[in-house]
Amino acid sequence: MTDTAIPAVHASEPNAEGYREFTIGGFHFRRDEFFAHVTWPTGTHVMSIDGFLRALQRDVAWDFFYGTVNFDGVFGTVNHYGTVDMFAGRYNDSYRKAELDHFENFPTPEIRATFEAMLDDWTINGFDPFASPAETAKPFGVKTGSNTAAVTRRRVTASRMVGVPGDEAIRTDATHPINRMFADVPQDEPDVDAEPGFEDEVCAFNLFAYLSRSDVTWNPSVVSQCKASLYCPTTEEYILPIIHGNDRVEWFVQMSDQIIWDVQDRDTGAVRAKVTMKAGDVAAMPGDIRHQGYSPKRSMLLVWENASPELPELIRSGKTSVYPVDF
Ligand code: PHB
Ligand code: FE
Repeated sequence: MTDTAIPAVHASEPNAEGYREFTIGGFHFRRDEFFAHVTWPTGTHVMSIDGFLRALQRDVAWDFFYGTVNFDGVFGTVNHYGTVDMFAGRYNDSYRKAELDHFENFPTPEIRATFEAMLDDWTINGFDPFASPAETAKPFGVKTGSNTAAVTRRRVTASRMVGVPGDEAIRTDATHPINRMFADVPQDEPDVDAEPGFEDEVCAFNLFAYLSRSDVTWNPSVVSQCKASLYCPTTEEYILPIIHGNDRVEWFVQMSDQIIWDVQDRDTGAVRAKVTMKAGDVAAMPGDIRHQGYSPKRSMLLVWENASPELPELIRSGKTSVYPVDF
């Protein structure tokens, strides 16, 4: 094998409902008309296929994200940036006490290939795991077609900023119609008068207009990048399909409307806080929590990430606080 070899995916022939079953290490995955069934050496778990595919889509698209992606209170992944833990019950007090928890570590390319194949096989025609439930067909039933274009859509990641020549383009009617919930968002763009020769350096764009044209929910995209500082705004409607366990501080700026956050201890799930963020509110989520958001109306949220690779170890070793400021 070379470094570029495609990792093996262990998939069965289609089952009675038409879906392949997947095996990686000691974990086995099966879907039927309504559910995802996960088994591991010490247990079994069942999730609605709707929530499972929405979580799987994000884990795949974000390449295992920062820290922990809990699909629910039992199953999920922890990113070690090169390898990934797949776990069941490991961050659940009851499973731990009963000694039923289990985890296995995989090279990232191996788990990535399995998750990509499962997401593609299990997503049927018309269902878009990134869409608001109000804007997609349902995921239920026997296998009918697929939606490869949706589950492999390109993620926006600006290397400098949206609108800078050669970088991610601003959105227009031709590519991204305004979402039904943001019909009132002004679409004017700023005037920029750059000195001749500085046209590539002095740039600006209307972020509200840009976000009003997003066709996905709960999917932070990188609109600007300055060293490790990433602005990752996103449009939200209904429920964040994962419970995110932080390995660093994250800042939230609520740009419009309102989101309710359930905040729990990252490792045990013990309840820590319920935070209602209204338009204009700013919060820092500590580096030792997990959180899930509820957005009753489509809203705009800016997630500000510090992508420094040394942060998880600095926090684990106690050299850096889990809070960004001490008052
Ligand atoms: C988060 O875990 O911080 C997060 C993830 C996706 C979103 C918003 C926030 O859309
Ligand atoms: Fe988070």
